[in-house]
Amino acid sequence: MKHQVNGNTEGIREGMLARLDSLYSYESEEDAFLPRELMKLLAECSCALNREIAVYLTRDGEIVNVAVGTDCDVELTDYRLRRNTERLSRVRCVHTHPDGDGRLSDVDLSALKIFRYDAMTAVGVKDGEPTFVQTAFLGEGEELILPEPVRWYRVPDAEWMSQIELSDSLVGREEAQQLAGEKEKAVLMGIESEESLQELRRLAETAGAEVAGIFLQKRSKPDSALYIGRGRAEELARDCQALEADVCIFDEELTGMQARNLEEILRIKVIDRTTLILDIFAQRAASAEGKLQVELAQLQYRSARLIGMGTVLSRLAGGIGTRGPGESRLEMSRRRIRERMTELSRRLEELEKQRSIRRKSRERNEVPTVALVGYTNAGKSTLLNALTGSDVYVQDQLFATLDAVSRRMETAEKTPYLLTDTVGFIRKLPHALVSAFRSTLEEAALADVLVIVSDGSSPDMAAQHDTVERVLEELGATEQKRIEVINKCDAADPMPAFPGAILISAKTGEGLDELKHAIAAALQETYAPTAFLVPFSRYGILSEIHGLGRVINEEHTETGTKITAMVSREDTERMIRKYGNGILAEVPGKKD
Ligand code: GTP
Repeated sequence: MKHQVNGNTEGIREGMLARLDSLYSYESEEDAFLPRELMKLLAECSCALNREIAVYLTRDGEIVNVAVGTDCDVELTDYRLRRNTERLSRVRCVHTHPDGDGRLSDVDLSALKIFRYDAMTAVGVKDGEPTFVQTAFLGEGEELILPEPVRWYRVPDAEWMSQIELSDSLVGREEAQQLAGEKEKAVLMGIESEESLQELRRLAETAGAEVAGIFLQKRSKPDSALYIGRGRAEELARDCQALEADVCIFDEELTGMQARNLEEILRIKVIDRTTLILDIFAQRAASAEGKLQVELAQLQYRSARLIGMGTVLSRLAGGIGTRGPGESRLEMSRRRIRERMTELSRRLEELEKQRSIRRKSRERNEVPTVALVGYTNAGKSTLLNALTGSDVYVQDQLFATLDAVSRRMETAEKTPYLLTDTVGFIRKLPHALVSAFRSTLEEAALADVLVIVSDGSSPDMAAQHDTVERVLEELGATEQKRIEVINKCDAADPMPAFPGAILISAKTGEGLDELKHAIAAALQETYAPTAFLVPFSRYGILSEIHGLGRVINEEHTETGTKITAMVSREDTERMIRKYGNGILAEVPGKKD
C-alpha cells in the first residue's frame, strides 16, 4: 500500500502508517482551531512512535500534510496555499513534542517567521496523552504574538481562529507598506517612437516604478494577438527575466486578449499606458469629485477589457503596486461593477449640479476667469504660485495637479479676476479620462482668457503644444483670447523659437510683469469696468445692467443713477445699440 505520510517513516509498522494516513481524511469543524479528538490521536501516535508528528491544517480545517520526525524534531516544510511569500501561507502547523513540553522552541518560532504559517502550535505529549499546548502567531514586522501555554483541553478555539484573521491583516499591512516603499521594476515596450517611450518612462516613474529597461520595436500597426511580434515577445520575456522586472508596461492601449497573451509569455504583470495614467490619477485625486471620476474611469476601462473573462475579475488589480479600484474589490462580479458604476455616475451628477450652481453664481458675479493650460509638467502650478504668492502643490512629476485650483486676483488697474490652474494635458490621454475630467477641464473651456504654458526646456515642446491645441479643440475652447507663454526660460537651451510668445521663468520671476500686463490687457478687451447713467424714468435698464455683470458702484446723481459694473465689451456694445450712446456715463478714455 502506498502511504502519503512524509518524513521519517522508516521502521514504522503498516498498521501505524495506515492510522497516520487516515489523518488526511480527518474532518474538523471550520471554526475549530485544534479539535480535542485530533490532539488525542496525535498524542497516541507520537507517544507510540516516540517521534514528533506534524500536521498542516488549512483554514477550512482540512489536513493537507502529515509528517513524522525524530524524537526531538520534525522537518517543518514550506507549505503554502498562497503564492505570495510575504503574506501568511493560509496553513497552520500543529506538531507534537513527545518529551511532554508543550512550549514552542526557538526553531519552531523561526520556522513560523520563515514559512509564514497562519499559526505554529506545539502539543506536549506524555504517556500517550496531550499535556500543554502553545501557539504563536505573526504580527507586524518581525514581531511574534505568543500567548502563554494552556492545558490541552483549554485551547481557546474561537480566539485563536480570529487571531489568524488579525495576523493576516497585520502582515498584509506590512506588505502594502513594503510595496509602497519598494519600487516595482518596470520594463517599457513601445512600437511608436522614442519620444513617446520617454514620456512613458516619466509616467512610470511618477507612478512609483523604477524603469529597468526600455525597448522599441517599430511597427506600423500593433499585432492583433500580441501587440508586438511573437518572436519579439519571446525575446522580451528573456529581457524581462534578465532585468528582474516585476511589470511590463506597453505604450499603447492593449486589448484584454493581448494583455492575457502577453502575460502568458512574459510571466509577469502586464499593463498598458492607459492603466498607468489611470493609476497615477487614482493616486493623485484629492477632491471627492476627482476620486469618483477616477474610479469610474478605471472601472469603465477595465470592465470593457473583461469581456469573456469569466466571473472573477482578477485583471482589476492591474496597475503599479496594489492601487487601482482597490484590491478588496478584486473579485467583484460584473453585476457589482455595473451597480458601482451607476452609483458613481449618480453621485458625480449631483456634484456636477453643485459645480454648475457654483459656476453660475460666479458668472453672476461676473468675475472674469483666466485659465492656465498646458502640457503636464510645463510649470502651471509654479506659475500660479509665482503670480499669486499662494501655495499650490508643485512637484517634478506628471499630473501633480488634478483638481482645478482657483485664486482671486486683481490687475494693476484693480480689475478682479479668477486665475485657475488646470490638470495637465498629455498625448494619448485616455478617452475615459477626458470624459471623466470634462467638467474639470471645462473650467478651461469656459475661461475668458487662456494662458497656454509651454515648457521651453523640453525638446518636445512643439509636439506638446500641438497636443494642447488638440485637447482645447476637443473641449470647444477655441474662441477666447489666448496668451502664449514659454516657461522655464532659465533652463531652456537653446530658447525655442515661438513668435509672439512671452518668455518667462516661473522660478526666477523673469517675464512675469510682462505676463501680468498681457493678462490685464486681455481682460480689458473682454471685461472692463463700465459706467452707465440710467435716467430715473428708465428703471428697468438698471436691473438689466445688474444682470450683465458685477456691480462695483451705484450712486444717485441729479440726472439719474450712475452705475459702474464689470461688463464684457460685447454687452456694452449691445447696450449702446439698444439705448444709444447716452446710456454711457462716460465715454471711455475721457473724464466727466
Ligand atoms: P501638472 O500638474 O502635471 O500639470 O504640472 P504643472 O504644469 O503644474 O507643473 P509644476 O508647476 O508642478 O512644475 C513642474 C516642474 O517644473 C517642477 O519641478 C517645477 O519646479 C519646474 N519648473 C516650473 N517652472 C520652472 C521654471 O521657470 N524654471 C525651471 N527651471 N523649472 C521650473
